[in-house]
Amino acid sequence: MAIFTSICGRASTFSLLVHVLVFIRLRANVSVARAATPGLYVFGDSLVDVGNNNYLPLSLAKADYRPNGVDYSGRKSTGRFSNGKNAADFLAKKMGLPSSPPYLSMIGMTPPITGVSFASGASGILNETGVNFVQYISLAQQVEYFTLVHNKLVQQLGQSGAQSHLSKSIFAVITGSNDLFSYFSVGSLVLSLVPKHYTPQKYVDLMVSSFIDLLKMLYGLGARKMVITGVGAIGCCPILRKANRTGECFVEMNYLSARYNDGLKIMLHELKSELQGMNYVYFDIHGVMTNLFQNPRSYGITEIKEACCGLGNLHADVPCLPTSTYCLKRKKHVFWDQYHPTEVTASIFVDILYNGTQEYVVPINVKQLLDV
Ligand SMILES: *[C@@H]1O[C@H](CO)[C@@H](O)[C@H](O)[C@H]1NC(C)=O
Ligand SMILES: *[C@@H]1O[C@H](CO)[C@@H](O)[C@H](O)[C@H]1NC(C)=O
Ligand SMILES: *[C@@H]1O[C@H](CO)[C@@H](O)[C@H](O)[C@H]1NC(C)=O
Repeated sequence: MAIFTSICGRASTFSLLVHVLVFIRLRANVSVARAATPGLYVFGDSLVDVGNNNYLPLSLAKADYRPNGVDYSGRKSTGRFSNGKNAADFLAKKMGLPSSPPYLSMIGMTPPITGVSFASGASGILNETGVNFVQYISLAQQVEYFTLVHNKLVQQLGQSGAQSHLSKSIFAVITGSNDLFSYFSVGSLVLSLVPKHYTPQKYVDLMVSSFIDLLKMLYGLGARKMVITGVGAIGCCPILRKANRTGECFVEMNYLSARYNDGLKIMLHELKSELQGMNYVYFDIHGVMTNLFQNPRSYGITEIKEACCGLGNLHADVPCLPTSTYCLKRKKHVFWDQYHPTEVTASIFVDILYNGTQEYVVPINVKQLLDV
């Protein structure tokens, strides 16, 4: 009995020791492997919101109701402003990662090493953009939330582990459209006072400089690989086409969006020479959309003007609501609702972003950025 106990005791001490050693080795391997894995950190607006606004009770910019998500797995309305997946989902998929979950669903939890999404519908670059939708996460606030995630990563991986992980990760920022909608008071009940204070060029200059300041903050927090999209040809969104009697695009909006993109491209080029080790992809989504409107059939699309979900002229007089009808051929439409692309359009965009030529993606594409 005594011998048995002592053998037993020794055995368990030994096995405990082995366990501890194995555990330490496993832990070490796991954190090395984890630190080496890039994540996808997403910032921006409703083009990439994966459900943050579901957690903002007062927000008027929501998509957590039918028929949004009608083509999503389980026909779930997740808060994505789409019939299915959005551009953030497709980008994650290209990187071999799960979609980055909404930051507001992760409060109090350990953030996944594969990345987090801070994107919020109605938000823009400027803090005030979105006030008409009452509650939203401005880009500056998104960066503040990332600071908290950054601190948790340091706790989890150590300073150098976190730094290594973040330097390999992709920071995708898709924003700017709402600042321009706000300039023209599109979709808001009250007229924007902004144009009174700024000429169009001064306004886009302010957008660019504010954006660059926020990118510098991300760099300061360890971001090294940035994926930045310009603003699309948003004058061709159904809500603006229907305002033009001919059903053509709102010219001034596209002009302003192009001015913003020109400024952004120049500033990104300068930023790269200023910030050591920073690399980026600039996505000319304006050019891609223009090409898509000119040659829809080469992308398998037949309907470029009419929203799939909504009512009235171009299905854009009434927004996509639970009572709205929606089209059957969703793979043939560029637009899902008054403002947002369908799932198929988002996947076309990301195919080009990931692996496109310098015609639309400069100075390199995402595939090349991952290998830098
Ligand atoms: C925008 O809001 C952030 C807080 O989220 C604040 O720190 C920043 O100073 C504001 N920027 C401007 C220009 O008001
Ligand atoms: C409406 O479309 C036409 C082209 O058909 C264009 O010339 C005109 O400028 C557009 N109107 C506005 C307000 O953009
Ligand atoms: C990337 O583009 C090249 C040439 O355009 C094509 O051959 C290749 O299949 C594409 N790869 C992916 C992963 O899309």
